[in-house]
Amino acid sequence: MECARWWKEAVVYQIYPASFRDSDGDGIGDLNGITEKLDYIRGLGADVIWLCPVYRSPGEDSGYDISDYRDVMPAFGTMADLERLLREAHDRGLRIIMDLVVNHTSDEHPWFAESRSSKTNPKRDYYIWREGRDGREPNNWRSYFSSSAWAYDETTGEYYLHLFSKKQPDLNWKNPALREEIYEMMRFWLDKGFDGFRMDTINLILKAEGFPDSDRPPATDEGYVFDERLYANQPGVHELLREMNERVLSRYDLMTVGETLNVTPETASEYVRDERRELNMICNFELMSVDSGPLWKWDVVPWRLRDIKRIVAAWQTGLHGKGWNSLYLNNHDQPRMVSRFGDDGRYRVRSAKMLATLLHTLQGTPFIYQGEEIGMTNVRFGSIDDYRDIETLNFYNEATKRGAMEPRQAMEAIYRKGRDNVRTPMQWNDGEQAGFTDGVPWIGLNPNYKVINAERALADPYSVLSYYRRLIALRRAHPVIVYGDFELLAEEDESVFAYARRLGNERLLVVLNFFGTPATFDVPSGRLDPHAELLIANHGGDGEDSAFAETAAAGPVSDKGRDAGEGSIRLALLPYEARVYRWSER
Ligand code: GLC
Repeated sequence: MECARWWKEAVVYQIYPASFRDSDGDGIGDLNGITEKLDYIRGLGADVIWLCPVYRSPGEDSGYDISDYRDVMPAFGTMADLERLLREAHDRGLRIIMDLVVNHTSDEHPWFAESRSSKTNPKRDYYIWREGRDGREPNNWRSYFSSSAWAYDETTGEYYLHLFSKKQPDLNWKNPALREEIYEMMRFWLDKGFDGFRMDTINLILKAEGFPDSDRPPATDEGYVFDERLYANQPGVHELLREMNERVLSRYDLMTVGETLNVTPETASEYVRDERRELNMICNFELMSVDSGPLWKWDVVPWRLRDIKRIVAAWQTGLHGKGWNSLYLNNHDQPRMVSRFGDDGRYRVRSAKMLATLLHTLQGTPFIYQGEEIGMTNVRFGSIDDYRDIETLNFYNEATKRGAMEPRQAMEAIYRKGRDNVRTPMQWNDGEQAGFTDGVPWIGLNPNYKVINAERALADPYSVLSYYRRLIALRRAHPVIVYGDFELLAEEDESVFAYARRLGNERLLVVLNFFGTPATFDVPSGRLDPHAELLIANHGGDGEDSAFAETAAAGPVSDKGRDAGEGSIRLALLPYEARVYRWSER
């Protein structure tokens, strides 16, 4: 049995501040805009907010390039606004975790200004400086945002490392004085009452000893190689996290979630096992890679249900009893889940609910990304000039300039995978600028806000939003959803994802039709009690036959299933249908 903790029972709502709600008409979302919407978040049933970076930043990578860790981005408001947001959130029983971005800073951070000023500056060693090699970069590493991971700096004639953009130099975590400054800064926020951290790319903080070349073949003729084996999970990273835990985290009652790249359930458990005293949970990328080909994310290939099942099952069983999963199907870096794994056309509502059922009935802490709860979709802007995200723009420039892709092909990849898909403004209503701003939004709206918006969702008992509320309420009511173990059923089934959960004598069966065609599912014997209660099902609403939905929602198993022989029950499923059954074993 897992031991109970508040952060295991929590549901997190992720806010990308620039696109949530603009209270002052400058076209950029802000802190007071978030405060205005706290009741909306509370109404959903979420109890933790993850605030993407709100620190002072030049905005090269939308706030993930910080120039002052102890100040607020002026476009978002003031420190007083942030403190008020925290107070108002706490008053409503909502906690807030901050984004901790300490693998790198902005090149406009005063530490970097000092560091680059001379080889003997006391802060030189806060960053990673190396001499060039034969007039080129110190090694062949490629950054996450295209091209070399090293930038030449004329002042001292050396290169600095940046795993992300050139304006995001990596910090040198081997330097104890730097670490002390970071711990101090963390205490600064925790002493204000913030409830924890989401830790950006936290397992990249140490790089491969000696900065060796990657021996993999380069992706482009520039010769640079993207090789996470050399950037992530290096020896010593656990010692550093334990030090951080000892010095800071363990002194407060917190939730910590690490963004960890290139981890497996085995390596992940080393970050999250209780006795390790490092982090509460990590977020993994394995599921987010199911539609990536050998050339990484922009090399888009169709996902296969069997891979989704395999990955989910591996994480569910791999961490059970050892550590805790965070659960997400999209975030500020990943495309909209309904466009990616569901159907954002005809079956938008039902497939969004089906995916939500998956998200909310696994063991782990669910993370909802703003707009997901109303079934927001990917966007297709007409021109590359409408895009704002640095990763997307770099990809487009590199791919088209080198002739690796036709512009049209590159745009198709962006429509599928680009981060701006999820960064369009939150759709509050069908009015001017979707109720996001009275000004001109910093990035275009998704034109479907006339149909997909929070106001409409709040008024519709069959909306995706209403369904999220019910799912969250069920999680609160049934500990088996939070703490139960997981068993994958019918692994080979090509269209249905089904699993059983078990806690004491409580049982759950979750059946998800992942496709837009009807399916039948023969429940393996013993995995569904004929008298089980149908806890929730996802059809009805938005033009669907709601009378049917109500019958289904009320009916016992025998109404919808028939005996498939040998004691097993056959369920006939509609396109994208999701059902959750619950019973107590006698
Ligand atoms: C993380 C963030 C992403 C950012 C990157 C660099 O992956 O989620 O948005 O670009 O780190 O900080």
